[in-house]
Amino acid sequence: MSKAEELALLQEAFNRFTAATESLQQAYGRLEKEAQELKEELAAQKEYLELILESISEGVVALDTEGRIEHLNQAACDMLDSSSEEAKGKVLWDLLGVEGLQEEDGPQEEIECHDRILVMNASPLIREGEEVGLVVVLRDITRQKELEEAAARQQRMAVMGEMATSIAHEIRNPLGSIELFAGLLKRGLKGSPEERWVDSILSVTSHMESVISNLLLFARPFHPNKRIHSVEELVEESILMTLHAIQENGVTVKREPGERCSVLVDPELMKQALTNLILNAVQAMDEGGVLTLGWRCTEGKVAIKVEDNGSGISPDILKKMFEPFYSTKRGGTGLGLAIVKRIVDDHKGEIIPRSVEGQGTTFTILLPRVED
Ligand SMILES: Nc1ncnc2c1ncn2[C@@H]1O[C@H](COP(=O)(O)OP(=O)(O)O)[C@@H](O)[C@H]1O
Ligand SMILES: [Mg+2]
Repeated sequence: MSKAEELALLQEAFNRFTAATESLQQAYGRLEKEAQELKEELAAQKEYLELILESISEGVVALDTEGRIEHLNQAACDMLDSSSEEAKGKVLWDLLGVEGLQEEDGPQEEIECHDRILVMNASPLIREGEEVGLVVVLRDITRQKELEEAAARQQRMAVMGEMATSIAHEIRNPLGSIELFAGLLKRGLKGSPEERWVDSILSVTSHMESVISNLLLFARPFHPNKRIHSVEELVEESILMTLHAIQENGVTVKREPGERCSVLVDPELMKQALTNLILNAVQAMDEGGVLTLGWRCTEGKVAIKVEDNGSGISPDILKKMFEPFYSTKRGGTGLGLAIVKRIVDDHKGEIIPRSVEGQGTTFTILLPRVED
């Protein structure tokens, strides 16, 4: 081979080498680009997965085979009351204060942890056929528990209310008969020393009657049957209904009537409100107390007042006395004023208490006036 031929061959080999290098470089460039794209895609996938994990309200914790925390989401951090850095590497069961995992098919155990109630579910983490840990899902059921308890309580209350209502009805009928016969007996015993005894019976039965009425009113929604009614009649009938208690306690009634005027009320309900106020007044006074009842009619409004010169009410009690079941009396139901408030509210009225401790109390009911 001549020198020139050798040179030509070499040149060709060199050219091929350069071409191969170039195509290799191109392939490498493509590969690099693909790798970069894959990396980016992976990062995006990872971010997306993390977003999902952080967004769910369940706590998700990944554990190694020893039960140590490798990864956990924000919800799990909240439930364990710990930051991610603090929790990682710790044994989950220690943080939860439990022995370990419950039997798989058994009922889910409720765990109390930092004022929360949690339930957990665990599944093995399997990599290439080998168990490499556990993934634990924690669910906060505190609110659900609270709602369940509230519903159960409400149901018990409803049952109690129904029972109380039916018992109250059962008592009311014989009570009516006792009142009727005691009234007849009183007539027969007029002027005799035994008349007092009958008065005691009548006073007790009228007290029971008012307790039962309050209970029935409290247990059921009202359906007021409003009519135009004279204020004077409301007051007089309320005095009549409580006369036994007034007399029994040696209380004098003082009337301060206003001009004739009318209100739009359910008379039975409004009388119940007034008798509750009168009974409270009577109970707050000793022998010789004076109960003052009166009313004032102004333009558009009627103010009915029930005043006593009894014990008065301390500021502390004044704040709470309209709450149902609040009572300072032995055997008091604490329903009286709660019912008064409800009845007055139902008539778009207002109830205003004013009291000086040791001197007495005035309750004023304000009602819209109607033209009669
Ligand atoms: N006229 C009053 N004088 C003094 N205290 C009163 C008067 N009216 C109400 N109270 C106070 O308000 C509380 C609640 O009254 P109420 O709802 O009628 O329930 P109860 O009469 O069963 O105690 C009473 O226990 C009492 O302490
Ligand atoms: Mg009362």
